[in-house]
Amino acid sequence: MNALKLLKEDHQKVQELFAEVKATESERQHKQLYKKIKTELETHMHIEEKVFYPTLKQQEEFKDQVLEAVEEHLQVKTLIRNMDRLANGNERFDAKLQVLMDNIEHHVEEEETELFPEVQKHFSAEELEQIGIELENAKKEFTKKSRAKAASSR
Ligand SMILES: [Fe+2]
Ligand SMILES: [Fe+2]
Repeated sequence: MNALKLLKEDHQKVQELFAEVKATESERQHKQLYKKIKTELETHMHIEEKVFYPTLKQQEEFKDQVLEAVEEHLQVKTLIRNMDRLANGNERFDAKLQVLMDNIEHHVEEEETELFPEVQKHFSAEELEQIGIELENAKKEFTKKSRAKAASSR
């Protein structure tokens, strides 16, 4: 699959989960949705950092954008770590979830309106197809590892 299409589908999935969060006030549902959001984000950030960003960074013109994107991922990871540490029922959970969603929406918007159109110009259809394959493989491997980790910590 084309790399940009694959990444946009990931973005879409996360944004649908955000819409579900916004559609309910239920704390229990927010918790459940957060778990799904977290899994999606961790996988997506991993494959971007492992495959997509390093490929772009080989070209000088993408360097700054990639560096910024990596910093934005880092903020998201910090927030996730923070949220994981919160005790059940902590009143700050929803506020953090809101900030997480705001951050991601900003990041996705930058990727889709600034970064991806540039990538589209600089890489051929064949190259994007190849990167897409690598992204898919990285995703499979990451999912397998996360499942194994989850199973062993049970
Ligand atoms: Fe990203
Ligand atoms: Fe992304």
